[in-house]
Amino acid sequence: MSDQAAALRELISSLGTDPSRQRDSSGTQEKTAHIIAVTSGKGGVGKSNFTLNFALELQKLGRKVLVFDADIGMANIDVLMGVRSQYNLFHLLNREKSMSEIIQSGPNSLPFIAGGSGLTELFSLSEEDLLYFTRQIEEIAHDMDYILFDTGAGLSKETIRFITAADECIVVTTPEPTAITDAYALVKVVHDLEHAALFRLVVNRAVDRREAQQTADKIRLVAEKFLHLDIPVLGHVSDDPHVSQAVKKQTPFSIRFPNSQASKDIQELASRYAQQSLQVRADSPKGFKSFVRKLLKR
Ligand SMILES: Nc1ncnc2c1ncn2[C@@H]1O[C@H](COP(=O)(O)OP(=O)(O)OP(=O)(O)O)[C@@H](O)[C@H]1O
Ligand SMILES: [Mg+2]
Repeated sequence: MSDQAAALRELISSLGTDPSRQRDSSGTQEKTAHIIAVTSGKGGVGKSNFTLNFALELQKLGRKVLVFDADIGMANIDVLMGVRSQYNLFHLLNREKSMSEIIQSGPNSLPFIAGGSGLTELFSLSEEDLLYFTRQIEEIAHDMDYILFDTGAGLSKETIRFITAADECIVVTTPEPTAITDAYALVKVVHDLEHAALFRLVVNRAVDRREAQQTADKIRLVAEKFLHLDIPVLGHVSDDPHVSQAVKKQTPFSIRFPNSQASKDIQELASRYAQQSLQVRADSPKGFKSFVRKLLKR
């Protein structure tokens, strides 16, 4: 007991949601990263490509962004970036590497963490390891504006944890009916578990703005009717062969083909998001401590 128990009590109290606890000694609000979970109902709709290129665009706008590959089954953000991730969360949790050593640098120096096999361990940590992990990740979190988690598709226990703990959840869908119904199913399950969850829609692979709008409207109408839930649309990314070409070259499409339609769309979407999210952040200053507390609650 003794030292470890005291440290744990300190951790638990420091993870409280009371906003006053998030103020520093000068009384000003501590800077805290905004946590975004990117997810989808159906797999293969473009989450990882969206996360990576969205992060790069936010970074271009001067925001500090960290990408965390939280797809337990098939982590592949590093493949999309053409970077081989040597270390992941597993090495951190096993005390083989420090947090700064497992953060790797992608294109345009985008920092990212590969979850890898450490992700499953994350949910069954001993109290001592939990304390260690929390301290390590908090150190980087206060330096960031946004932390983007690229989650796996569908409704695994772990993905649901990430979504319900995040400040907001970006749901990616395509115009295909199967993607639409799966996106709605995901929203419904998460909403039933956590009424306060905030969702935003991104329609990927739309042929044009009209198809994107129609796709979003289908999900919004059903969510409004059956869940009394408003799901704002963040934007759309066009169906564009440059995306697949960039994937084959293992370079993010916004870097490889900056003038392609998909790149223009993601630029527009990111700049709108960067403006709107100031309001979301002001409205829900949950911050990183609340995120870790919820994510790893026993
Ligand atoms: N806007 C787009 N236009 C054309 N093709 C796209 C677009 N977005 C994604 N794709 C295609 O879909 C493929 C899958 O994309 P991605 O890996 O980002 O999906 P995902 O949702 O992360 O998949 P998973 O569920 O397996 O994690 C890409 O390799 C690319 O070929
Ligand atoms: Mg993916």
